[in-house]
Amino acid sequence: MVGAGWVGLCTAACFAELGHEVVAREIVPEKVEALARGEVPMHEPGLPELVVRNADRITFTTSMSELLERTRLLFCCVDTPPTYSGDADLSRVEAVVDELEQSAEHAIVMKSTVPVGTGRSIQRRRDGLGYVSNPEFLKEGTAVEDFLHPDRVVVGAGEASRAFGDRVAALYEPLGAPTVRTDVASAEMIKLASNAFLATKISFINEIANVCEELGADVNEVAAGIGLDARIGPRFLRAGVGWGGSCFGKDVLSLKQMAANTGYHFQLLTAVTEVNELQKRRTISKLQKHLGPLVGRTVALLGIAFKPDTDDIRDATSLVLAGRLQGEGAHVRAYDPVAAERARAVLVNAELCDSALEALDGADAAVLVTEWPEFGELDWAGEVKARMANPLVVDGRNFLDREALRAAGFTYEGIGR
Ligand code: UGA
Repeated sequence: MVGAGWVGLCTAACFAELGHEVVAREIVPEKVEALARGEVPMHEPGLPELVVRNADRITFTTSMSELLERTRLLFCCVDTPPTYSGDADLSRVEAVVDELEQSAEHAIVMKSTVPVGTGRSIQRRRDGLGYVSNPEFLKEGTAVEDFLHPDRVVVGAGEASRAFGDRVAALYEPLGAPTVRTDVASAEMIKLASNAFLATKISFINEIANVCEELGADVNEVAAGIGLDARIGPRFLRAGVGWGGSCFGKDVLSLKQMAANTGYHFQLLTAVTEVNELQKRRTISKLQKHLGPLVGRTVALLGIAFKPDTDDIRDATSLVLAGRLQGEGAHVRAYDPVAAERARAVLVNAELCDSALEALDGADAAVLVTEWPEFGELDWAGEVKARMANPLVVDGRNFLDREALRAAGFTYEGIGR
């Protein structure tokens, strides 16, 4: 693995679990020392256990020469964040390619999400370098499970790298998953199109939810009903306060820009993003409907992470909500079981609380942003009701027991119900 960030580490630990020998190169020495001690610097369920259990099969190092000496397939797992133009910043990928000496024995296996055409241009620049595209489809919070039980494995390789492609495919064989063998550009596109489609699916159900609210239908029932159609499928149809995270926004934009660079206007993806931005803000009008102007009101945000089981707050809806609420003059309290530390640097004007109850104390409204299980276990009818100044809940994930809350005297607003 070149890079032991979230993708590199999850891949390393899972390959080791399958019995393979893994060497992971990470440039930050302190990180290598911590990893060698079995300390995993991110919240990912099951990952620390896997790293510790397979410690004898994973070597962490800062040395590229050790990597080249001991391994033949170099999985590139470095960041490709968006630049101001919306293009992917490939400088870290290029730095990895530059570090490799000319060798017929080694192949670079691209795990990082890159624009379509990246493989072709790397191969043009480094003629003779083996190149395989092997995109990852791991979800934060369920990455280990996703790796060990994939829907499919995608391996893209050109004619000259076919043998390396065979070797990459063989690594995944114990998983028994369907393997899709393609050319490099198609594999690159499968990754971007998958994320863009999933984001589209969520924006679609969110718009259906908004119309349901006006017409008196229940989006949960609608999602269950359409999801049973095998052509649609039941997953990624949960309406909510909008999708976030570091991948969907970046990949939708990247695909749109890539199309634009060729002169093609990808209209659908423009709408997918806009729907999501509006969805993030709709909570504000739900609060205003019950509270009037929000000046001087206290609003408790339950959950900061972009989804449960992660401490990742990149592009999280909570950040947009906090900013918008403060723009309306409200006082924001926020609580998250694992992401609060990361949020401290970003939510500078919000009050970060140590528990949900502390955030709810004296609040005029609660907004559930992230469906952490502990929010379902709160004593809403008793302790929460007694603490809040006003019993108003906007359930941004349709997660709480609506009937129980209403029976306890709460004003309950869900999404699309
Ligand atoms: C996403 C993809 O699902 C992975 O397949 C992909 O590998 C990854 O991006 C990546 O490119 O690295 P991730 O961003 O970790 O994974 O998380 P998701 O579970 O996809 O959730 C993304 C956002 O959509 C979250 O904010 C979540 O709350 C929201 N969401 C998800 C919904 O609002 N409704 C749903 O039905 C599902």
